[in-house]
Amino acid sequence: MAEPKENVLMEKIVSLCKRRGFVYQSSEIYGGINGFWDYGPLGAELKRNVKDLWWREMTRLRDDVVGLEATIIMHPQIWRASGHVDTFSDPMCDCLLTKKRFRADQVEPQSGIVYHYSGARDIAAAKEVNDSFAVLLPAGKPPESARKVALQFYAGRGLPTAELLGERTEKVENSQRFNPENGALLTPPVPFNLMFKTYIGPTATEEDVAYLRPETAQAIFAQFKNVLETSRQKIPFGIAQMGKAFRNEVTPRNFTFRSREFEQMELEFFIKPDEAVEAIHGSVAQVPEQGHPGEPQPNWGWQAWHRYWVEERVRFYEGIGLSRETLGFHVQTAEELAHYARATVDILYKFPFSKRNDKGELLGEELEGIAARSDFDLSQHERFSGKSMGVFDEDFRNAWSKLDEARRAELSRRYHESRLKYLTKSGVASERAEREAKEDADGLAKGQYIPHVIEPSAGVDRLILALIANAYSEINDPDEKGKSETRVIMRFHPRVAPIKVAVLPLLKNKPDLVNKAREIRDVLRPHMNVFYDDAGSIGRRYARMDEAGTPFCVTVDFETFEGIKEGPRAGEKETVTIRYRGATDEENGRQERIAIPQLLPWLLERIQ
Ligand code: GAP
Repeated sequence: MAEPKENVLMEKIVSLCKRRGFVYQSSEIYGGINGFWDYGPLGAELKRNVKDLWWREMTRLRDDVVGLEATIIMHPQIWRASGHVDTFSDPMCDCLLTKKRFRADQVEPQSGIVYHYSGARDIAAAKEVNDSFAVLLPAGKPPESARKVALQFYAGRGLPTAELLGERTEKVENSQRFNPENGALLTPPVPFNLMFKTYIGPTATEEDVAYLRPETAQAIFAQFKNVLETSRQKIPFGIAQMGKAFRNEVTPRNFTFRSREFEQMELEFFIKPDEAVEAIHGSVAQVPEQGHPGEPQPNWGWQAWHRYWVEERVRFYEGIGLSRETLGFHVQTAEELAHYARATVDILYKFPFSKRNDKGELLGEELEGIAARSDFDLSQHERFSGKSMGVFDEDFRNAWSKLDEARRAELSRRYHESRLKYLTKSGVASERAEREAKEDADGLAKGQYIPHVIEPSAGVDRLILALIANAYSEINDPDEKGKSETRVIMRFHPRVAPIKVAVLPLLKNKPDLVNKAREIRDVLRPHMNVFYDDAGSIGRRYARMDEAGTPFCVTVDFETFEGIKEGPRAGEKETVTIRYRGATDEENGRQERIAIPQLLPWLLERIQ
């Protein structure tokens, strides 16, 4: 059937999320709280599955990544070192008429005629106000519309029957200075720091200020040395962490997409600087700009590692049901990159609310960013804490001692140059920067360097929303009376599906069927989330499971006790019917019989 229009589709998704217990508005009984969301029974299972899969893939299935679970509130100095106290802000402005708040960089650009007013006078009230105000009208609209808006503005300033003063007009193109909903002028943008502040201890003075972490990454940098020393890892290796992050977003929007409290799954993968790789291996491996570069190699520099992690992350998304066609990529331009970043690739998902290109194709919104962040983060913590973040690399020291003078001088010069650039850009005075860069370059000659980092940083909640949007589909089926009805089928990949299997006795008044179904439920339960349901017709129960996104239904029916009569498995006793939810309309409802002892391995093979 035809795809529903995107806004309608989002409305349907939001309503299904509430109706089926995926996502609720936080504090709903008190009217809700903007930017905060709760996960209901199905949503909580979905989220847990996603996080477990990420953790398994990023840490347990790898030799070179270990985990960390740090506190949400950390020493405030961490956020000074990371740059968040000074620069983690969005430009914010308010509508002068309605007080509605906007992120200044996200205001829809508009063109037309601006009507400026220098003030207003109210003769009846014998009062004059000299606050200037302006209204933008699209070309062709009568000036009366602007005057009406302006009069409302001055009425709000205590002039109910005002006469406008000093009207003049101006033509503007693509201006972001006016409220797109009413044309009223916005206040000038002011930076608004996104970190939530709190106080530690009872005195609550400025000295006690602390922050709820706006990302999980910084704890990884702060604990880098401890992890290195206690985990027996060597560069290259990574530290993974997932957990809550908080940002006081100016305009939370698009359901859970931009929230104020959310979860991140972040990896900081520490690598040798290219100078060290070159010293050991003669050169840095060249990898193709597209595609997976294959298994990690010792001669990889930052570009190969960056490409590797982009592709690994895409593989992860494909493995949980987000095909490449549903994803987009944004390679940050030189202007978009942070000054310390060498490259950043954003993996996007084409949400129903995403913008479209000229051809009408969805462009996508960020799910995850994979950034090559140089040695910036560890260097910052070294400067702010006064503790060394450098590592000693024996292979590198041995290789260095075998290099000829010219090669050493060349690598040393490059390392010195990059350290000097970092120190200067970080505001260190030139004399001191020169001295420290020289010390760093001398350290290199002794086998010491500050590791560089590749950071794949994903948002759990955005991924959950992508999985829900991706799974949502509608089907037209005849109902029990033969009338066509539209039903929702959530086509989650079995790995992430909140309920893996439903166990259904055909009739609830037949003790044999019910007892066998309960027995099966109890065998499966320790291995997966099982739902037992004996209420209503079997068709209704299948439909309920389709809506919850359950990939398999197991029905205990009268044939269960007859065994398999024909075919290679003839003679197998006690069977059940497995009904597939299926990835396509054609597959939906396909059934097969299976012997009960085969059931657990059959399911495990498909859900892991
Ligand atoms: N340590 C790097 C970092 O935090 P980011 O791009 O600011 O980078 C990483 O955030 C990911 O966290 C994003 O790709 C997104 O999935 C998620 N994220 C960021 N802000 C969010 C918000 N307000 N609501 C939900 N998810 C958010």
